[in-house]
Amino acid sequence: TVFSDPQSASLNVAQRIAALIRKKQETNEQAVLGLATGATPVKVYAELVRMHREEGLSFKDVVTFNLDEYYPMQPNAAQSYVTFMNENLFNHIDIDRNNVHIPDGTLSLEAIPEFCLAYERKIGELGGLDIQILGIGRTGHIGFNEPGSAPNSGTRLVTLDDLTRRDAARDFGGKAFVPTKAITMGIGTIFKAREIILMAWNKKKASIIKKAVEGEISSDVPATYLQLSDNVEFILDQDAASQL
Ligand code: GLP
Repeated sequence: TVFSDPQSASLNVAQRIAALIRKKQETNEQAVLGLATGATPVKVYAELVRMHREEGLSFKDVVTFNLDEYYPMQPNAAQSYVTFMNENLFNHIDIDRNNVHIPDGTLSLEAIPEFCLAYERKIGELGGLDIQILGIGRTGHIGFNEPGSAPNSGTRLVTLDDLTRRDAARDFGGKAFVPTKAITMGIGTIFKAREIILMAWNKKKASIIKKAVEGEISSDVPATYLQLSDNVEFILDQDAASQL
């Protein structure tokens, strides 16, 4: 679906998330959201915050799982995805912090496999993700599933692509300071979501969107795996869709 601008596209995504939350509340169920970081979803979160403030949208029964976190990463560091989520969403809504899940960038290497299994297990115990929102990296990564990721991959420790680290350099004050690794939900984890929404704006995403939507399905561009799912929608602005 192509929107004229990121604002109207973000509004549409926020409205869909709000509708899910309200529908679940009618039957006293918890909405389980898969959340993403990066510049792309910022307006979606801003709109959800507005809905909370002005329309009384409550997040009390909402459970969230974030896609990824750098490794190693302290939660209170300026560049952590914990900080990002707090600043853009969680600090401004009535979510129960016990319902917030973000991969832990402080674990010892030995503790990571068990943490990742538990992350998957928790999502499963809650009945799975109702909606997973995604951005896309210029390598074609979703979450931090870089080129080479397997379609059935689970939550795990990964090595970041050089291009991804270059793109993150500004946030860290230089590429040398960008962690080389991250913990990310897998492609298989994302695929289990009942609805997957990939968002992309701006001209700089146009060529990777063309590859993701029209390119051959290949681990070289992990987002091409989304072509295999019936539950995926790409929400684009005109610029990101300009090469389709
Ligand atoms: C990071 C995140 C991804 C995100 C990507 C694109 O690598 N781990 O989840 O999709 O950046 O970022 P942006 O939305 O800033 O273009």
